[in-house]
Amino acid sequence: MCLEMMTPLGPDFHIVTGRRRFLRQTFAYSALLALGSKTSLSSLLIADPTAAELLMIGDWGYDDNHAAQSAVAAAMRRYAHSRGINPQALLMLGDNWYGELAGGAHSSRWQRQFEEMYPPDVFACPAYAIAGNHDYERWPESKVSAELEYTRIGKTATGPTRWTMPSLWYRFEFPATKPLITFIALDSNMPLVDGGSGREREFTLTPQQQAEQLSWLKRELERPRTTPFLVVMGHHPVYSNGVHGDHPILMRDWNPLFQKHKVDMYLAGHDHDMQHLEFEGHPTSFVISGGGGALLTNPKIDPAQRGPYGQKIYGFSHLTVSSTQMTLRHLDSNGGKLHAFVRTSRGKVVVFS
Ligand SMILES: [Fe+2]
Repeated sequence: MCLEMMTPLGPDFHIVTGRRRFLRQTFAYSALLALGSKTSLSSLLIADPTAAELLMIGDWGYDDNHAAQSAVAAAMRRYAHSRGINPQALLMLGDNWYGELAGGAHSSRWQRQFEEMYPPDVFACPAYAIAGNHDYERWPESKVSAELEYTRIGKTATGPTRWTMPSLWYRFEFPATKPLITFIALDSNMPLVDGGSGREREFTLTPQQQAEQLSWLKRELERPRTTPFLVVMGHHPVYSNGVHGDHPILMRDWNPLFQKHKVDMYLAGHDHDMQHLEFEGHPTSFVISGGGGALLTNPKIDPAQRGPYGQKIYGFSHLTVSSTQMTLRHLDSNGGKLHAFVRTSRGKVVVFS
């Protein structure tokens, strides 16, 4: 039985084929080990008890109807509990607040849609946040400013907040002790050179901020690596099969840096779906986790044409990291497995879907 198949994407990219239904139903290290006949594959799938875990969502803070956000959040809680996962971070991938945030940092929405939705008894960890386009809306005042202020205030009526957005762009290492990943959190809200709606033109970084961030990013990437993995996150995808498509400014400004400095993974939201894209010769895995609660949108490109994965569905993502590999899983709003892949510190990608 052929379990590992070379794809047109290059020699370091592999797809595990066969028994897809079985994998979806029983996705577990033990099941995958049972399938793997090659030593190299089996070695990728050995659970490491010292691995660090984080969960992520994008496009979650919907205003009109909280049903989808609540369903995804409940699935995250059940998933962490049933698997005995104690996440060491949450990643909030932008579009954290749709609609009006009356009261700004003092809005009751913080308690209802963040503190209680992702409660500290399950997520006793920092929630690292970046700004999306909806966060930039001044409704009634700048919601980005409110998010920065909420971090500065640092507490709620019931205790300290885990919300962590110290600035528009920042760096952190994960986990806090014995770090395995250097995270670079970016603000992808670019002033558009041409195109875009009036709303997008009005609520973005200024051109000066755009240049400052790019200079900062270059300096950060020039620093010697101190962790096995380097991951960048920004709200807008560089590449996407979703409704918004590829981003010309991020392709121009960021993508060459990702290639030059061999960024291992880029995490984004913005398109309200779940995706994983790989490109031949490109050192970066592109992940979109935009199913956190906002109304879903239709993809433009079939993942059969450019993939390996894309689906219009609510969900969240789970990243497990050890000193030798990262495992990214997309989960749906019932906690069911949608797609998963392993990326090693040597750049090998193995997909299980
Ligand atoms: Fe967005």
